[in-house]
Amino acid sequence: MTDSLPARRVPIARPAVGDAEWQALREPLESGWLTQGPKVEAFERAFAGRHGVAQAVATSNCTTALHLCLTALGVGPGDEVIVPAFTWVATANAALYCGATPVFVDVLPETYNIDPARLAEAVTARTRAVIPVHLFGLCADMAAVRAAVPESVAIVEDAACAAGAGHHGAAAGGLGHAGCFSFHPRKSITTGEGGMITTDDAVLAERCRCLRNHGASVPEEVRHHGPRPYLLPDFDELGFNYRMTDLQGAIGLVQLSKLDRFIAERARWAAWYDRALADIAWLKPPTVAAHQVHAWQAYVAVIDEATAPAPRNELMARLEVRGIATRPGTHAVTELGFYRRRFRLQQGQFPVARRLQDQSIALPLHNRMSANDFAYVAEALHAL
Ligand SMILES: Cc1ncc(COP(=O)(O)O)c(C=O)c1O
Repeated sequence: MTDSLPARRVPIARPAVGDAEWQALREPLESGWLTQGPKVEAFERAFAGRHGVAQAVATSNCTTALHLCLTALGVGPGDEVIVPAFTWVATANAALYCGATPVFVDVLPETYNIDPARLAEAVTARTRAVIPVHLFGLCADMAAVRAAVPESVAIVEDAACAAGAGHHGAAAGGLGHAGCFSFHPRKSITTGEGGMITTDDAVLAERCRCLRNHGASVPEEVRHHGPRPYLLPDFDELGFNYRMTDLQGAIGLVQLSKLDRFIAERARWAAWYDRALADIAWLKPPTVAAHQVHAWQAYVAVIDEATAPAPRNELMARLEVRGIATRPGTHAVTELGFYRRRFRLQQGQFPVARRLQDQSIALPLHNRMSANDFAYVAEALHAL
């Protein structure tokens, strides 16, 4: 038996790349300089400018950005790093990569972001860092986060979803000691894979630059254009290869120039979803306070399973039949097999994260969707 394909398909995400990105690849391809070089440097400068910080360090993805940043901050064995229970697994993994212990804190049901009151309760003498996540593009309550931890605790924003987001007039990535961004294709701007660390701390940025390049005391592009003969520099500490390529840097520059337009479009359609779906009582839309600039990496609503026509997964399956791709918002890291075993966690120990994992739904929202696509999704949700 063959399943018939739905007449229409609306993917959950589709990168908005086109001719300008193709053209941008010409220069590095023709010059032959493909690894980290002038395009990455230009992308870093432009990204730092857009996010109101002095320094930006490009990386191979946001997971490596988080790892690099924690390592450069000196996080290591014996340290605790506080992370929200509801986030992508990479946030907690980064702490483990450093030999530190992730300490989980539940999130707020309205914003899906870390609960500052519970954060304050989780601080111990071993707390070295906290990673508030700006989930789906909405900034965590950073004033409350700062108030909840002693000054000695480093605040590293997981801004994977939050390029262009803002909070009380300041941009994500400049709200803590450092911020880490992702350019995975499900994010609003993409370089295929890719990440960025932002900070005002020049010493931290320099350390990140050194560690991303194997711990080399002199960067490759400087060596290449430097005095002859070409000699290898010293490698004074254990580093990594977490570099971004210049092909990605070239694409990133073009994508960044489109970021504000992408966010404005997404915000317009998110508001449209709010209005179009307002009469569906079992679907709670995402909330945004007036002081927030939501970057709308995803439009994540919560299903009230007591009144919904079916459980979340069944509703997702029915939408899939009509060609509409949806996703759970994200997972509760505290419900994942590895973390449950390693930290002896009970299912449901972080009840808000568990409920959001099971009942949240990301609807399609991206910059390649037409008005007809949005209308089709809204009509399908009403027909469930
Ligand atoms: C909240 C969060 N943190 C970290 C990451 C990791 O980003 P990357 O895929 O660029 O490593 C993601 C990716 O989806 C994410 O959503």
